[in-house]
Amino acid sequence: MISFSHVYKTFRGEVHALRDVSFTIPKGDFVFLTGHSGAGKTTLFNLLAGFDRATSGHVMVANYNLADLRDDMVPYFRRKVGVVFQDFKLLNNRTVQENIALPLEIAGASSIMIHEKSNQMLSSLGIADKANNYPDELSGGEKQRVAIGRALIAQPDVIIADEPTGNLDPHLSREVMNVFLKFNALGTTVFIATHDQNLVKDMQKRVVRLSKGELADEASA
Ligand SMILES: Nc1ncnc2c1ncn2[C@@H]1O[C@H](COP(=O)(O)OP(=O)(O)OP(=O)(O)O)[C@@H](O)[C@H]1O
Ligand SMILES: [Mg+2]
Repeated sequence: MISFSHVYKTFRGEVHALRDVSFTIPKGDFVFLTGHSGAGKTTLFNLLAGFDRATSGHVMVANYNLADLRDDMVPYFRRKVGVVFQDFKLLNNRTVQENIALPLEIAGASSIMIHEKSNQMLSSLGIADKANNYPDELSGGEKQRVAIGRALIAQPDVIIADEPTGNLDPHLSREVMNVFLKFNALGTTVFIATHDQNLVKDMQKRVVRLSKGELADEASA
């Protein structure tokens, strides 16, 4: 479950990136976050992922109240939330397969399990042939898919993905959405920020819309 209650985020006392934002996403839902560039989508995701704290208001994710999250609890919280960053944040000294496998390694999975699951993920994302390449040898769309694979592989309670199809063509976007849907069917709550109105229309899911830092109309596409 994700819940924002009267959340404000102000940068350096001037920029009101989020203003009185309240909404709830029940466990297991699949929701899009839309809004123009600068509307506050990445800011909202940074709060959700525990990378930044709200100026005021409450953010709850997977039973953690992020305002009170102690520093020593942060690693536990992070395992519950898979994050696809707008700028990927891949590790350049690890291969594609090693990047994707990282959350399983951290969780202490066996090497057989790591091998099996990462191979499966590589094929569902159509990048099996790049398993042994390094991130700087990939196209933008390939990097994007590695970031998605890494965020999903440990089957987090919640996945937040910031523009996960920004570098993909419509066909690949659809394939990637199918991977999100598959994990959603297993119980992962999915929250995806996107500018792609066609994708939102296609998917027929709930939409949370931000406009200049405020929650705008909310409707199913
Ligand atoms: N660290 C920061 N310091 C100051 N202002 C910031 C900071 N981060 C974001 N902002 C401002 O907050 C507002 C919201 O930014 P945010 O990155 O959340 O937008 P966005 O909806 O993700 O946009 P895009 O679609 O372009 O990714 C913008 O006006 C931005 O300039
Ligand atoms: Mg953004």
